[in-house]
Amino acid sequence: MYKYNSEEIEKVLIDSGRIENKVRELARQIDSDYADKRLVMVGVLKGSFIFFGDLVRNITIPAEIEFMKVSSYGAGTVSSGNLKISLDIMRDDLSDCDLLIVEDIIDSGRTLSKLASFLKERAGTVRTCTLLDKPERREVDFMPDYCGFVVPDEFVVGYGLDYREKYRTLPDVCVLSPKVYS
Ligand code: IMP
Ligand code: MG
Repeated sequence: MYKYNSEEIEKVLIDSGRIENKVRELARQIDSDYADKRLVMVGVLKGSFIFFGDLVRNITIPAEIEFMKVSSYGAGTVSSGNLKISLDIMRDDLSDCDLLIVEDIIDSGRTLSKLASFLKERAGTVRTCTLLDKPERREVDFMPDYCGFVVPDEFVVGYGLDYREKYRTLPDVCVLSPKVYS
């Protein structure tokens, strides 16, 4: 068991074993839904990098891999609502591709809804998969197609998710102590 600093980490919310089981379950569903499609999995950097790596290794159908880097958060914990694309998919034609955008967490919903609309203009089909969803915080009407866990309105870190670039390498999804950011 990983040793957490209790000054920074309030509690483990979802442990690595539960995440592993959920990732397998999501992969089975994606395998069956995309069996006769041209699956292109799009990892949203950086937050989804661990989830994305685990998910693609559990997919058994052929899949292509792309990454995008987008941000709507600055350095703090409040969404600005502006989508900034700093890495785009470098392909001329996505019209025969079935994109599955893989994100770490949906909060206000702004990042993923804007990214999905942006890609829908270029790709055959676009769906979204998120490890975590905080529906209480939603500000736009948006529902992911695949979701690992619904989480309460608390700031979480670990398994790829950060607070100011820290805590991404923690093995579990943890609640960050409010002392760290207040
Ligand atoms: P949204 O546009 O408000 O849905 O914000 C989604 C993005 O905000 C995610 O991709 C994360 O990078 C970041 N984010 C939202 N909530 C959290 C959290 O609890 N921990 C870490 N990052 C978060
Ligand atoms: Mg993110």
